[in-house]
Parts: sequence; structure tokens; C-alpha cells
Amino acid sequence: MYLGIGGNSKMKIMVINGSPKGSDSNTMRLTRAFLDGIGESEVREITVATSKIAGCKGCFCCWNKTPGKCVISDDMQYVIDSEVWADVIIWSFPLYYFSVPGGLKNLIDRQLPMNLPFMTDRTDGKGSGSHPSRFDMSQKRHIVISTCGFYSAEKNYDSVKLLFDHMCGENYDIIMCGQGELFRVPELKSRTDEYLDIVRRAGEEFANGKIKEETREELSQLLYPKEVFEKMADASWGISEDGEGKTDETLSFTRQMAALYNKAAYDGKERVVEIVYTDKGKTYQIVLGKEKSEVFEGNDLIPTTRIETPWEVWLSIARDEIRGDEALMKGLYKVTGDFDLMIRWDEFFGSLSGNKEKNKASVQTQEKKKPSMAVLLIPWIVFWIAVSVNGQTGTVIIFFVCCTMPLLAFRRKMTIYDAVTFCVVGILSAAAQLSGYTEVFVILGYLGFGLMWLLSCLTREPLCAAYVKYNYNGEDALKNPIFMKANYILAAAWGILYVIISVVTFFLYKNHLQIVSTVINNAAPILMGVFTAWFERWYPASVAAGKVK
Ligand SMILES: Cc1cc2nc3c(=O)[nH]c(=O)nc-3n(C[C@H](O)[C@H](O)[C@H](O)COP(=O)(O)O)c2cc1C
Repeated sequence: MYLGIGGNSKMKIMVINGSPKGSDSNTMRLTRAFLDGIGESEVREITVATSKIAGCKGCFCCWNKTPGKCVISDDMQYVIDSEVWADVIIWSFPLYYFSVPGGLKNLIDRQLPMNLPFMTDRTDGKGSGSHPSRFDMSQKRHIVISTCGFYSAEKNYDSVKLLFDHMCGENYDIIMCGQGELFRVPELKSRTDEYLDIVRRAGEEFANGKIKEETREELSQLLYPKEVFEKMADASWGISEDGEGKTDETLSFTRQMAALYNKAAYDGKERVVEIVYTDKGKTYQIVLGKEKSEVFEGNDLIPTTRIETPWEVWLSIARDEIRGDEALMKGLYKVTGDFDLMIRWDEFFGSLSGNKEKNKASVQTQEKKKPSMAVLLIPWIVFWIAVSVNGQTGTVIIFFVCCTMPLLAFRRKMTIYDAVTFCVVGILSAAAQLSGYTEVFVILGYLGFGLMWLLSCLTREPLCAAYVKYNYNGEDALKNPIFMKANYILAAAWGILYVIISVVTFFLYKNHLQIVSTVINNAAPILMGVFTAWFERWYPASVAAGKVK
């Protein structure tokens, strides 16, 4: 719904694309997002680069000989007609030498027929004089959308603002964005898309009245910190430092990747990432230090992590065309050495987002309640120990434990497995109490615990994944085939172990070997715990090294 201009008719928008690149304009990406945010509307688009708009001759014929008409017959008449037709005029252009590009300046100059020649005073304090408009333009709203090449828009737009102050008075709003060339880099799409989302929101707010201060504030945030952007921008040209020779595309890409290094991820350990582009015969080493990252050609240093990849595969991952973990699982590339870096890749190279919402969201994720394996295990362990030591007292203890567990829900997120545990353990202890067959129900407890693990393998989230995923980007971990396979294997292993334990316990109890059963039943899960800790590290590293599928 649009409230800025009354009535139910669709908002009429005229877009003036002043980029010499035409439809390939960085700025137009922002403008399209803004239009998207506005929603349903009637849009006329004028692309200066492909229109015929000559420079003004300065003859003033449009004021005296042919009032309101220019002597030059070209596309400018359509521009003027469209400006008169529109409710909103969007001026979309790149910053060129701290001003508007030449073609757009021609268009601006050629608006002269829109004015009457008479001199009037300016009442808004913007200048010393004015010419009245031939048309009632007082209700038109203008939006200036512009990108520029420097790291920030700040202080670069002074002359543009002055120009639009004179042209539009109070009647315009402005969105200016530095680092404009990044909008065409596919590898940085996730970051630039975040910005475009804010522009979209600005469009929506504009359609409903005006852009909110909070959105304006977000629009003024840098895409990347100054030093990261400038390093990346310098590397992107792919030319040597003297500005003459060309650098290899693999080197310029690796340098841009290294520029994204987030030194906040440095944990006291200097890392050397060696990247071998197998099909290009190129090897680079990126040293990730306390203060910066540095790229070296060759393999002189001892790498901490080594990545062997075909060039196209690495590019596709960088462009989010395929997931890195999926490509690894498929054996499209190999990683040897310290795998921890790969697990924390986004922290090292991808968390420079300036998006407040996203940052807020990630803080919220950190603060959000997470489930704890202890909540699941405590009732089972108390049941096995307490009920087998003393049926009567054990049942009372387990009753209280089950009652207190839901209180944890205030502090911990409860999983379906926690809920199943409270129910099953509660029922088993009540049955043990009522029937007096404590040992039978202890054995059934082992069996039930094992079956719970095994049945979880038939779901999209095996039991352990429901707890561990929070250490690996939450729900996103469920899309990681290596994480999922490792968790299915572990859940199946724990399930099988406890089914076996239930059978073994049954025979040991039958032969009055309770002591042996106690030893086995305590030793087995400890050993399995050690195996789990080892497997969690070994499996991803082995898949990454291409040793295991
Ligand atoms: C001739 C020329 C002059 C430029 N002048 C500036 C400038 O003064 N300040 C700036 O930050 N960027 C400047 N730039 C960079 C552009 O503003 C930037 O690349 C912009 O994102 C291009 O947008 P577009 O793709 O919509 O044309 C200039 C670029 C060119 C080609």
C-alpha cells in the first residue's frame, strides 16, 4: 500500500539510469532492489547510455522562440513528458569525479524547457535565484540512488548533494553506497545481497511514507572494512604493482580471498593455508597472522592446512554455486593437515558482514537456549544406577529426577529425545516399582535407550546431531553431508552398543554375574565416548583427505 501519494492508483515511477554501463550498472542493482521494495507500480525507465540525448546548445529557444520546446529533436522530449507523468523520479547513477556522469549532466541541462525564463526568489535558502516551473512539480518525490568506487560514500557526494538541493529542494531522498564495484563480484554475493535487502526495505518504507532512520543508518554501513575492501579492490585489477603487467587470475583471486581474512579469528596460532590449483599448476600459501594475511607464491613454508582443488571447483564454492562441504564429500577437492580451519572457514573468511540484523541474529543464536546431552543422559544413568541398587528408593529418586528435568527447560532447549527420555524412564521406573521386577526393567531400559538411538537414524536428525549441531552453525549443519554422515554413523554405533548391552546384561543377570555386568555397562559407554570424540575429528578429516568416502 502506498500512502505517500493519495488514491488507489498505482505509483508512477520514472527511473533515469545515468550509468554509462546501461543495464550492467552496479547502481541499477540497488535501484532494482528499491523498486522491488516499492512493489506494484508503473515504471518507465530511461537509460541515458542508449538514449539519444545531446548536450544543451544554450540558445534559450525553449524560452523565447519555441516556449517549452527544445530545438533539438531527440529522446529528451520523452524524458520531460515522463518526468511530468511520474509521481516519483529515481535518479540512478555512479559517482564520476565527485559528480554525475557526463551523459546524465546533459539530461539535467536539457530540462531547461521545463522552466519559465522569469527570475524568482528562492525561499528555501538553497541559492540566490530560481526560475518558475512550467509544470506543477511540487508533489513529485525524487530519489537519488548512487554507488561510488571508494570505500565510503562519505564526503564524496558533496557536489551531488548540492546539485540535487538546487534541483529538488527538500523533495528528495538519497541512497549512496561506497564499494560499488563489489556488487558485480559473484564471490561476494552473500554480502552484497545483505545490502540489497536493506535497500529493498528502504523501498518498502518509502512506498509507505518515508525511509526510516534505522534503515538509513544501516544503508550508511560499509560493505567491508576499509582495509579489507582496499586490499581486495587492489588485487581485483589483476595487474602488477607498476600498473603495466598482468597478474595470473589465480593469484589475483587468491589475494582477494586472503583480503577477506578476519584477523579477529586469530587464536594465537599462525596458520599457513596452502592452495594448490591442480589443473593450473599453481600453488599459493596464505599466512594468517595476528595482524594480517599475506599471500606467497610457491610452497616454501610448511603448510598447516593444504587444499588441492581444480580452479573451477574452488571458484564455484566461492560463488556459492556449490557448498564446500558437499564438494568435499563428493571428492571434488582434498584437504590435508589441520581440518579445524575448514570447520571455522566462515569465521576466518566470511564473517565480515556489516549487517546489523545479521549480527544481531548471530548474537541471538549464541544467546539462544541450546539443548544439552546431559539432560538426556542424567535420567537414564540415574535410572540404571539407582533402580538396580535399590528398586524402591531408586524409583523414588528417578521420580524426582524426572520431575526436576522439565525445570531445565527454562535454561535449556528441550529436544524430542529429552521428552521421550522423561516419558520412557518415568514409565519404566513406575513399572519396576509396581511389579518389583527391577532387573527386567533395567534391561528394558538399556534396550529402550539403544532403540531410541537406532530409530533416530530413520529421521532427518539423528540423536547426536540434535545436540551437536549448535556447535556447527545450528540448522545449517544439517545441510552438511559430512556432519550428517558422521552423526548417522555415531547414532547407529551407540544404538547397536546399547542393544548389545541389553542382551549381554540379560545373560549376565541370568547367571548371577551382576558385578561383571556393572563393569561392562560402565566401561562400554566410556570407551564409546572416547571413540566418539576421536571419530568426530577423524571422519571429516579423512573424507577431506580423500581417504574415506
Ligand atoms: C570516469 C570515472 C570516474 C569515477 N569517479 C569516481 C569518484 O569520483 N569517486 C568514487 O568514489 N568513484 C568514482 N568512480 C567509480 C564509480 O563511481 C563506481 O565504479 C560505480 O560503482 C560504478 O557504478 P555503475 O556500474 O552504476 O556505473 C569513477 C568511475 C569512473 C569510470
